[in-house]
Amino acid sequence: MALFKKKQVQELSIEDIQLPEHIGIIMDGNGRWAKKRGLPRSAGHTAGAQTFRKIARYCSDIGIKYLTVYAFSTENWRRPSDEVDALMRLFKDYLQEAIRDFKDDSIVLKFIGDRSAFSPELLSLMNENEEESCDRDGMVLNIAMNYGGRAELVTAIREMANEVKDGSLSPEDISEELVSQHLYTKGQPDPDLIIRPSGENRTSNFLLWQSAYAEYVIMDVLWPDFTKEDLNQALIEFAKRNRRFGGV
Ligand code: IPE
Ligand code: IPE
Ligand code: MG
Repeated sequence: MALFKKKQVQELSIEDIQLPEHIGIIMDGNGRWAKKRGLPRSAGHTAGAQTFRKIARYCSDIGIKYLTVYAFSTENWRRPSDEVDALMRLFKDYLQEAIRDFKDDSIVLKFIGDRSAFSPELLSLMNENEEESCDRDGMVLNIAMNYGGRAELVTAIREMANEVKDGSLSPEDISEELVSQHLYTKGQPDPDLIIRPSGENRTSNFLLWQSAYAEYVIMDVLWPDFTKEDLNQALIEFAKRNRRFGGV
């Protein structure tokens, strides 16, 4: 009875609240999930990849317009090579599956981050997925791979500096809008809500510029255990926040 009541309250609330246009998720806690079960960290990443499939689909189903997931940071190369290799294999599996199975899907796939570090095989899968999905009209799914907010800003600054050097840009014309246009997320709205499972209270270099006024929801659940109900809970928490953007 109590459970039924909880479910009813949640369903009602999701329908009634204003949803964020853009959600970011730091998919964290795979390693701890595996450790708790006496499994290798790679098993946590496999489980986390399944959660990603489920939650991305759910976000699309409930009408979220943009979802950005943090899959691999510029700092994650510091991990042992067998763990990095396992992650690259998982990316490949997902990208092959996406090309094969998602033909009639409405999700637009984009990759944000520095691609130069990936194998030619992975690179061509990323390009193929983007090309295959770019004309769809559904949720934009940004997968952040070899992404770092600082590296993204360095790239943007370098591009603008080159434009100044070749005379196509004058320093006075550098504005917040122009900086945004030089980021991987150009043309997209900033994230409204950023969810971090696993309880860590830090950004870990995720969407540094874009998250200036994002609402953070930190949750104690590890990413492989993250459910649709957890997402609903984050959405309800977001809806209760009073976003002032510096005003009153
Ligand atoms: C997130 O889970 C996945 C990646 C960073 C690729 P972690 O692997 O960071 O899991 P924890 O934080 O060690 O538990
Ligand atoms: C952030 O998690 C990166 C991803 C989830 C892809 P990390 O596990 O790398 O972050 P830290 O090391 O705890 O800050
Ligand atoms: Mg982590």
